[in-house]
Amino acid sequence: MSPAGGDQARRAAAAFEELRGVAPRGVWSAPGRVNLIGEHTDYNDGFVLPFALPHRTAVAASPRADGVLTVSTLGDDGAARHAEPIAVADLEPGRVSGWAAYPSGVAWVLRSQGVTAGADLVIAGDVPAGAGLSSSHALECAVALALLGLAGVPEDRPEIARWVQRAENDFVGAPTGLLDQTASLLCTEANVLFLDVRSGKAEQVPFDAAVQGLEVLVIDTRASHSHTDGGYGARRAGCERAAALLGGPALRDVDTAELDEALPRLPAELQPLVRHVVTENERVLRAVDALRAGRVADLGPLLVASHESLRDDYRVSCPELDVAVGSALAEGALGARMTGGGFGGSAIALVPVERHDAVVRRVLAAYAERGWATPRTFPAVPSAGAARDD
Ligand code: GLA
Repeated sequence: MSPAGGDQARRAAAAFEELRGVAPRGVWSAPGRVNLIGEHTDYNDGFVLPFALPHRTAVAASPRADGVLTVSTLGDDGAARHAEPIAVADLEPGRVSGWAAYPSGVAWVLRSQGVTAGADLVIAGDVPAGAGLSSSHALECAVALALLGLAGVPEDRPEIARWVQRAENDFVGAPTGLLDQTASLLCTEANVLFLDVRSGKAEQVPFDAAVQGLEVLVIDTRASHSHTDGGYGARRAGCERAAALLGGPALRDVDTAELDEALPRLPAELQPLVRHVVTENERVLRAVDALRAGRVADLGPLLVASHESLRDDYRVSCPELDVAVGSALAEGALGARMTGGGFGGSAIALVPVERHDAVVRRVLAAYAERGWATPRTFPAVPSAGAARDD
């Protein structure tokens, strides 16, 4: 078993064997992600800079001859929950809800690519759910690799990312972009992924905070978030309307030098959205320059500016994220920002390693003072992308 899948791959394989009485044909796993910078830029054809978390979702799988898809998932307590078995031929948007919609959506989209066979899937994972760390995409990507692997279809990962996006958009009903799937499928250990969403060009940029005495601290606020309830989609639609009014295919086509001239041509409510996207793309490019020059600490002010822009212009932050960011900065973090879509979920902070304990204490104290649930914190290093484990 490859080291990437680790414990989760072993758990999924053992649970499969227990449930089905035979070893699975194979095990595949995919990681969650944090996005270092470049938020709400992906569906504007822009730039993103994610890295894979060590947390992964593994899928143990075997083909079935009867065209039926069965999906079981292991809870933290080790007990398995089972989705209602369904024929792959019967999968349609709206037919499956809850957690089972994610694996079912992938089977649905792959059916249109000729992958029509049934399968038994058993899932185990440790990507925190509902934390904005892409647990749903880790699951979808692992399922996609499993079903394609069982069918013997050669992997084209950028293409798989687009299929997973279609499952998420059209089956699950979340109008999300390409950041999360691409991160899960293309990230590699020790690197951040510099992705130009428009061209699809993906570059691995080495990112080693530890050599400079720094770490990326993830703060899962435990404030729940959702991308199916309208806030995300409304902003996406606003960006598309603004791009059309400015006469371009996407906001990617506006650069910072043109902002002053472009903004007055837009209705007032669209101006802050555009300002965020345009300046955020620029911040990604500056972050990549800083990393290429080995100046990790220079990320700090870019992270802060990104958070302020997401909070004030894009309006996707929330009090829990703002308090996490503010507390980390007050205790010596060089920078901090919300990561992912927002409305809850997680923040990241660039923290001198010797300040780790003090930052965590301060964040926890700020939450306790407000009577909020205790956030979960952990330092994260760029880890391996999706892989076959066995
Ligand atoms: C969510 C979506 C991504 C991306 C981010 C914001 O994570 O799934 O496609 O839009 O929000 O950057």
